[in-house]
Amino acid sequence: MPDEETSPLTKRDLEAGRLLFARDVIFMLSAVSLETLPPARLPEICFAGRSNVGKSSLINALTNRKGLARASNTPGRTRELNYFNVDERLFVVDLPGYGYAKASKSDIARWTKLTRQFLFGRASLRRVFLLIDSRHGIKDSDLELMGMLDETAVTYQIVLTKMDKLKKGEFEKVFLKTQKCIAKRPAAFPEIISTSSEKKDGLAELRAEIATLALP
Ligand code: GTP
Ligand code: MG
Repeated sequence: MPDEETSPLTKRDLEAGRLLFARDVIFMLSAVSLETLPPARLPEICFAGRSNVGKSSLINALTNRKGLARASNTPGRTRELNYFNVDERLFVVDLPGYGYAKASKSDIARWTKLTRQFLFGRASLRRVFLLIDSRHGIKDSDLELMGMLDETAVTYQIVLTKMDKLKKGEFEKVFLKTQKCIAKRPAAFPEIISTSSEKKDGLAELRAEIATLALP
């Protein structure tokens, strides 16, 4: 549960989040080019972040459906923009990760181009959820993306992932460091969400936050 003293999320927000994800979540399509994106008829959010931070796993955890988004031990698993329709109220987009060196240069160039075109050109994109692996913290490649999002005024919110991998004290250090890093960034949403897909921590808060962006 969020800290009632500091979190702006109310009980009503948490309930709205629970209800949103208790409804139908359908895999819609994998887009490999801008032309194959669906019409922008609903508000959208996306999950961005380095390869292997747990974007696809978090989508599965939020929806309580193990195989909805393809997650994998192998970095570079997600190669397209994968669209999920949440109860005809919101599109959730699972993005390919960045910072993965082992893919071919031409593949990396293609994903990077597509992802950037999407992030900076999609009018219906309401917020980017930028996932950071709490074992590693914010890396240069994250800062690079954050810089571009700041410049283009695309709002992003940091989600720390895999908190189950760290001891409480270690996690708190990473949390504070991350908070400091985003404090002066113009497009960064001030609240950080701490999660573990494995232990299902922080999911209620994340659902609630996402529900504030969906159609009523
Ligand atoms: P790409 O598609 O390559 O960009 O990766 P991704 O960000 O979608 O990561 P994915 O969800 O495929 O997860 C990568 C690995 O991290 C998998 O082995 C997951 O099981 C593991 N993982 C994801 N979330 C958690 C978590 O909360 N805790 C732990 N312990 N492992 C996790
Ligand atoms: Mg993935």
